Amino acid sequence: MKVGHGLRIGAVGCGYVGLVTGACLAHLGHQAVCLDRDERRIGALTEGRMPFYEPGLEELVGRSVREEGLSFSGSDGLARLVREADAVFIAVDTPEGDDGSADLSSVAEVARRIGRALAEPDAQPRERPLIVVNKSTVPVGSGDYVSMLIRDGMEEGAFSESEEEKGEEAAPKFLVASNPEFLREGSAIYDSLFPDRIVVGADSREALDTLRVLYEPVIEQSFPTELDPRPKVAVPFVTTDLASAEMIKYASNAFLATKISFINEVASLCELVGADVSEVAYGIGLDGRIGSRFLSAGIGWGGSCFPKDVSALRSIAREYDYEPALLDATVAVNERQRKRVIAKLQRELHTLKGKRIALLGLSFKPNTDDLREAPSLAIARCLDSLGARVVGYDPVAGKAAARQLPPLKVVFDPYEALRGAHAAVIVTEWEEIRGLDLNRASALMEEPKVFVDGRNALDPKAALEAGLSYRGFGRG
Ligand code: UDX
Repeated sequence: MKVGHGLRIGAVGCGYVGLVTGACLAHLGHQAVCLDRDERRIGALTEGRMPFYEPGLEELVGRSVREEGLSFSGSDGLARLVREADAVFIAVDTPEGDDGSADLSSVAEVARRIGRALAEPDAQPRERPLIVVNKSTVPVGSGDYVSMLIRDGMEEGAFSESEEEKGEEAAPKFLVASNPEFLREGSAIYDSLFPDRIVVGADSREALDTLRVLYEPVIEQSFPTELDPRPKVAVPFVTTDLASAEMIKYASNAFLATKISFINEVASLCELVGADVSEVAYGIGLDGRIGSRFLSAGIGWGGSCFPKDVSALRSIAREYDYEPALLDATVAVNERQRKRVIAKLQRELHTLKGKRIALLGLSFKPNTDDLREAPSLAIARCLDSLGARVVGYDPVAGKAAARQLPPLKVVFDPYEALRGAHAAVIVTEWEEIRGLDLNRASALMEEPKVFVDGRNALDPKAALEAGLSYRGFGRG
């Protein structure tokens, strides 16, 4: 099935972003190669095994490899890609450094290697410049930084003096663009194929035009799919300068994190005044200016993006001697939410020493096995330090959680976790956990059967009727 204009692209980095981008672009009719320096990961992908849990990805990758021009390669495939591809996506991780800023070392390494490959003496001259697309979340200004490193790489390579002189006049060998991703773990494929918008930043028309062609099937919603539940509406294609595109990514994540912290603050106030935050969220969310999504109160946000990106934006602000007061508060409220779980347990159980506490759901959110900045780990660590016996259950992240946090006893059935527990905490609202048989849970638990619903996922009335001592967040 070929529907796009069949460009040739590469994605460097087979993490969430690179793999999903490569598989989706292949699905749209392009030739895509996904590269990773981790040969084991490439070996597994070649055999059809995914490096992480993401609904639908294994099927999409399998089909894209069989029918749609997706392939995998180790780092040694980069030089060929640089010679032959229309665009190369840099999709490597930018973890949080010790000072909170984004660590760009992997991005820098890829940029230099692209430069060296562009300068290889036997490289055929390209007809058109290579479009180097930054998809990793990078600080504002990184587009220029990547350009600089590619040029450094070209100088390190065999790019001769005379060629460099010619290069002043000749067409550029590469152009840098920024194309931030907004996909959510757990619905990454859907978000890639049916995004709210596509954002591209570049200084050159040619780069913007190439990315327009690349994304045309998504913009026009013209690809055949059984996934599509929506009426076909063109997806906005936002073109802007590099710095603004980079800022759009940070500002989007920071806004969403702030929105969650805001509703969590309102939830705390609801508890004080006796209001119900679910009712309040519904009432305010109907205002089109506010919107109803990302207003679920509870334990707060975690994951691979919000904590890292909010932290990086605060760090950018400080570089300019600007005090990011609102972002600081967003983080402070989020940290307080975890502590409120402990406080709720202490209020009911008094001492936690010797108490058995079940954590239901361990991944940072449902439908993923990702444990990065997962509230469950912070809560488990704290409960353990207070002398409680912590038993965790998660449909997919259990084994990984047990490896990361040895004091956490992981079991593979939610009722097993609840057996003999004095208290339980819903940390992650997997469907399975939303649908728990509360009477069975209650029969297995020990008094006082405290049930802290960290995601307001249960019906409080049903929980009370089952004999549980229910405590939600901001539910009056
Ligand atoms: C996020 C952004 O949504 C996505 O656009 C970006 O590309 C990457 O970061 P992700 O981290 O996968 O995606 O998860 P998301 O669904 O946004 O949830 C983030 C965190 O917020 C989770 O811990 C979730 O439990 C929490 N959350 C979300 C709430 O506490 N309340 C809400 O109403 C929504």
